[in-house]
Amino acid sequence: MMHVKKALINNYLLFAISSVLTLNSCGISNEIYNERKISINSDWNFHLNDSIKDRDTISAATQWRKLDLPHDWSIEGRFDEKSKAGVGGGALNGGLGWYKKNFKIEAEDSNKITSVVFDGVYRNSQVWINGHYLGKRPNGYITFQYNLSPYLNYGNKENEIIVKVDNSKQPNSRWYSGSGIFRNVWLETTDKLHVAPWGTYITTPVVNNDKASILIETTIQNQNSTSKQATVNTIIFKGKKKITSFSQNITVEANTNKEIKQETSIENPILWSIESPELYTAVTEITIDNKIVDQYKTPFGIRSFTFDYDKGFILNNKQVKIKGVCLHHDLGALGSAINTRAIERQLQIMKDMGVNGIRTSHNPPAPELLDLCDKMGFIVMDEAFDMWKLNKSKYDYGSDWDQWHKKDLEDQLLRDRNHPSIFIWSIGNEIYEQWKDESVKMSKELADIVKNLDKTRPITAAMNPPVNMNIDEVTLQFEKSKIYINPLAGSGNLDLIGYNYAHQTFEHHKTNFPKTPFIATETTSALATRGYYDKVSDTIINWPIKWDIKFTGGNPGNTVSAYDHVKTPWGSTHEATWKIIKKHDFLSGMYIWTGFDYIGEPTPYEWPSISSYFGIVDLAGFPKDVYYMYQSEWTDKTVLHLFPHWNWKVGDNVDVWAYYNNADEVELFLNGKSQGIKSKKGDDLHIMWRIPYQPGTLKAVSRKNGKIVAEKTIKTAGEPATLQLTPDRSTIKADGNDLSFVTVDIMDENGIFVATANNEIHFSVKGNGKIVGVTSGDPVSHESMKGNKHTALSGKCLVIIQSAKNAGEIELTASAEGLRSRSVIINAK
Ligand code: GAL
Repeated sequence: MMHVKKALINNYLLFAISSVLTLNSCGISNEIYNERKISINSDWNFHLNDSIKDRDTISAATQWRKLDLPHDWSIEGRFDEKSKAGVGGGALNGGLGWYKKNFKIEAEDSNKITSVVFDGVYRNSQVWINGHYLGKRPNGYITFQYNLSPYLNYGNKENEIIVKVDNSKQPNSRWYSGSGIFRNVWLETTDKLHVAPWGTYITTPVVNNDKASILIETTIQNQNSTSKQATVNTIIFKGKKKITSFSQNITVEANTNKEIKQETSIENPILWSIESPELYTAVTEITIDNKIVDQYKTPFGIRSFTFDYDKGFILNNKQVKIKGVCLHHDLGALGSAINTRAIERQLQIMKDMGVNGIRTSHNPPAPELLDLCDKMGFIVMDEAFDMWKLNKSKYDYGSDWDQWHKKDLEDQLLRDRNHPSIFIWSIGNEIYEQWKDESVKMSKELADIVKNLDKTRPITAAMNPPVNMNIDEVTLQFEKSKIYINPLAGSGNLDLIGYNYAHQTFEHHKTNFPKTPFIATETTSALATRGYYDKVSDTIINWPIKWDIKFTGGNPGNTVSAYDHVKTPWGSTHEATWKIIKKHDFLSGMYIWTGFDYIGEPTPYEWPSISSYFGIVDLAGFPKDVYYMYQSEWTDKTVLHLFPHWNWKVGDNVDVWAYYNNADEVELFLNGKSQGIKSKKGDDLHIMWRIPYQPGTLKAVSRKNGKIVAEKTIKTAGEPATLQLTPDRSTIKADGNDLSFVTVDIMDENGIFVATANNEIHFSVKGNGKIVGVTSGDPVSHESMKGNKHTALSGKCLVIIQSAKNAGEIELTASAEGLRSRSVIINAK
């Protein structure tokens, strides 16, 4: 309760300072800009109860649990074989949850507009304020807001907001969705005359090195009952530096919106790029009689781009291959409750691999992900839907389609269109209607909605596939007479033909689609368990054999070999698709399924598997081996990655792989004895030796022109003896939100990593922090990811520590039976 009041007071102080500065004609500083929004994530009450369906009954409920948002209640539950969500949904249950918060609003705000903004609530939310019903929103991934002002109490009287979240009808998703208010919630307070929510649209019609033209379209909303005369000042900043400003006088009639266009240009603009994601900020001020009544901040970027039919993706006049990954929204052990640091870590791990593109499969993401992509430099495909009207799961959004798709798509566009990182709108993933003629009309309607709000980016749809596979698989002969183009791909409503899989058809794109450029919206779907290896690695395995044939067989313990040789029949190995994409400029790029493992969809397995095998990185954030294949191809870093581990049975023949770059050859030694020199030939992306196992030391040496470039050693480990704790950051912010991701490695007596260890590890924390997640990345583990113990997978486990709101030390201790325990200190400042 206090929280809201105090934050608001701070807000007013900032407001006053900035007003004075402006009046003194120094211009405001970007630093002390008045945020209209304040977080109201703290101090909510939660009640999970499938049988309470109406608000009056819940109001009388006495048992509430206190918690802070964002919150995902499903991740707190146990994995349940009988869950109606199925293993597709991660075998975690949905249900019906209620949230409640009490808060006070300053008396002087009674002449203002106060709104509540939800970044995303999964799913079917309904909201009440002080007993008044505000509305519902079925879509779990969309941002929405309600004006609270007419129903608020001001001064000392409390307000009560109640949110009902109904995720009880299952299944409603093909992957783990999570349940609850899983994104941030804000209170937004403005003058009655203000920039409308998402009320700016900034484009850069002309961009070159000397000059960029900037067009700012602003919607001013007057919620007064009288007309208002005001001035709109727009100030453009680069960092703290004011670049330019301009103003315009306006009159806005009572209870109407007014749209204005302001145009300017910037000399020698600093362009946004992947390597150097430079941002500008536009601050829109509305003043009446020289007094600032509203300020609104819009970060934006200046860049030019096109998808060229022949040359692929061109950014700032340079050809850039899109090396992207698809990501679902869950954050592993944190479930779907968003945390900015957790998203940043995921993106950093991707960036270090050389990834430059993110597809928000298959829904609008948390706004923080887009902010981070703007700042870190990613080419984002912002996707709207996984289905249109035809359902994929019994209770999914298809049933809400007729009533909601227009509003949802419009709101996504309005919210997201200023992000410089977004380059593609996807109006849907593998939509069932793609095979039907009605997709022509439907895609026209959707494309019109998009173009009406943003004409600067191309529209695609992820089709599986856009063209049939009438290709002789053996000779790759293409028979033109047998081409079938699906109605959506042929509709003329897409600016980019989006391919999901069907890599065999990529090289025929120009024959099939003589005008429209190419993008591989989704590729690969190869499978692996981190740290698990089959004996023989050079046969390609299709699991399942065909998409519609039930999978039988598999490995003991539902593992999948991590040499890049197991794939889905619709997909490919990692190497196969990349080899094609890299060959031709017109193949603008690809988004691999997936960057990270996610909860749910454990293809090819069923229960007891509950999370995916597709990730290049596992659920914990530990890279699988193929991560280094991409790194060797996509970065300039010197890579020499040697695998598997070196703990086998004497007599085993073991396939040893290496990914490398910046070298002409690699020599392998076992216990000092050369096993031969190998080099990649043709379009090879790895090298391999098959050698009889002997315990000891395996060493690879890469050389260029005879000179050593890199060396890599793997040693046979003895019995597990101790633990090693490595935090990704040992100093974090004491804001009750920041995270330290601590890697736990199981080591032997000699400090050698034990890659085959699977000890159960127990965690405890002292001081100003707590454990918020724990996982080994094992798709078969049913241990709670919210608990304080976990079984390691292939020698590793992850524990996530969150700071409290007060500064101090956090001491994490890890122990396991028979092993020496270890502690590590994390400082919260
Ligand atoms: C695609 C689909 C993804 C995921 C993937 C698994 O067809 O678009 O959401 O299900 O298959 O291979």
